[in-house]
Amino acid sequence: MAQDHAVPAQTGEITPVAIRPGIDLEINGERYRHTGDPQMPLLWYLREVLRLDGTKYAGEHGEGGSDLVLVNGKAVSSIGVPMSKLSGKQVVTVEGLADSKGKLHPLQQAFIDEDAIGCGYCTPGWLIASMDLLNRHKDPNDGDIDTLPNLCRCGCQTRVRSAIKRAAGVMKQGAKA
Ligand code: FES
Repeated sequence: MAQDHAVPAQTGEITPVAIRPGIDLEINGERYRHTGDPQMPLLWYLREVLRLDGTKYAGEHGEGGSDLVLVNGKAVSSIGVPMSKLSGKQVVTVEGLADSKGKLHPLQQAFIDEDAIGCGYCTPGWLIASMDLLNRHKDPNDGDIDTLPNLCRCGCQTRVRSAIKRAAGVMKQGAKA
């Protein structure tokens, strides 16, 4: 009676593997190539791969605002943007706001000066959203600031407003100098 025989595995055979092209992008002025899952959200790339953990989880849809980063100068939710959308883009996280010598950005200094930081969980998102706002409005009023999507469970909103307005003044002075 005929018997089935397993085909012996061929040793030394090379299984072709599709080459996945990398995704090249710039983060805080440094160049990176992501060769992992193109659908990985930027938030997890920042936190789990690069260990840049200033940017925080803000809910499934980024509703709390603490996951905001700047992509080509605009604030975007890093949980909502997959790596595949970032080829050639420039990303700035809260870690990239200070200058190369570690001098704080006027916004960061203003948050300290106005005591606008409670537990600090929301602060990176406020800073990024404020950067975006100040790129669009050199002199924002309370109404402009209140359009920002960020939430603060520590109740710092009033002091955040003061900090943003203080930073706007400092930045205007700096632009004149
Ligand atoms: S400072 Fe705690 S959530 Fe805003």
